[in-house]
Amino acid sequence: MDRHALYNQMVGRLLDHVEGGTTDYAADTLRVPAASYTDPQVWQREMDGIFKSLPILVALSHEIPESGDFKTLDMLGTPLLICRQADGSAKVLMNVCTHRGMTLESRPCGNKKTFSCPYHAWTYGADGKLRGVSDVVKFGEDCRGDRDLVSFPCHEEGGLIFAVLDAQSDCDIRAFLGEMMSDVAEKHFEDWHYVGQRVIHGANWKVALDGYLEGYHFQAAHPETIAPRTYTNVMAYEAYGPHMLVGYASKDIGQLREVAADELWQHENNGYDFIRLFFPNVSIFVAPEITQIAQLIPGPGPHENSTVLQFVHHTKPVD
Ligand code: FES
Repeated sequence: MDRHALYNQMVGRLLDHVEGGTTDYAADTLRVPAASYTDPQVWQREMDGIFKSLPILVALSHEIPESGDFKTLDMLGTPLLICRQADGSAKVLMNVCTHRGMTLESRPCGNKKTFSCPYHAWTYGADGKLRGVSDVVKFGEDCRGDRDLVSFPCHEEGGLIFAVLDAQSDCDIRAFLGEMMSDVAEKHFEDWHYVGQRVIHGANWKVALDGYLEGYHFQAAHPETIAPRTYTNVMAYEAYGPHMLVGYASKDIGQLREVAADELWQHENNGYDFIRLFFPNVSIFVAPEITQIAQLIPGPGPHENSTVLQFVHHTKPVD
């Protein structure tokens, strides 16, 4: 089924749910033991088998728009240096000097053509290539061509930069992102306006993720923001492989009864909204007021998670 037909079906279900006082149901209820969120061994398996093996969101294109722009961050204990190249592509490098392991760049962001290690001044290009070994005669060996920064597989599309935190991985990132990426790419977030970000620190990463999977909490937790315009606990679910699409019915969804069933997909944010989730660490909520792209960064243990909320809008904000 193509995407538009899928969305037509989902919106049709939302209309029925609002009328019938229902929501999408699973075949049965599921009880999840608390240990799934707290067990250090479970968490370690998730980090090794998911977060360090599969593509995860590491940056928005807006964060490094110009050639030479860079961003650093710690992702699951791996220090990253994400650089915009002269040809417009993005590179995701390990922010660690290949001489003695010094942190190469300590600033969170900036613009540089070269990076000089603060310990013995080896110099690297923004492409990660070792450009210069200081005092090379007395050092004894010119390591250029042999000691470039570690580079991680990455893919940039639709304003999002994904990487696999395993330099040897042969994962086909685009294939993994699949139809969900095609859907998100149609939004062209890269052409939208970057509004800002904030960081929320919380409990286990799945506790954070769970909050994006249901609208059961709208009335109690968001009585003055989401609840006045969106029905509480009325959802429609579909999946693209491991990625998920969750539809939410707005209070004005009734206007869509006048719309042909095969054109409902054209009315996002006018009667319904979608949350799009890239497994495992991205939630994108395209709302009428603002679009929120949440990037979940687990750790350093099972009881901690940082969520970076990035905000973009299709028109330039007035203030
Ligand atoms: S640790 Fe970087 S140059 Fe020595």
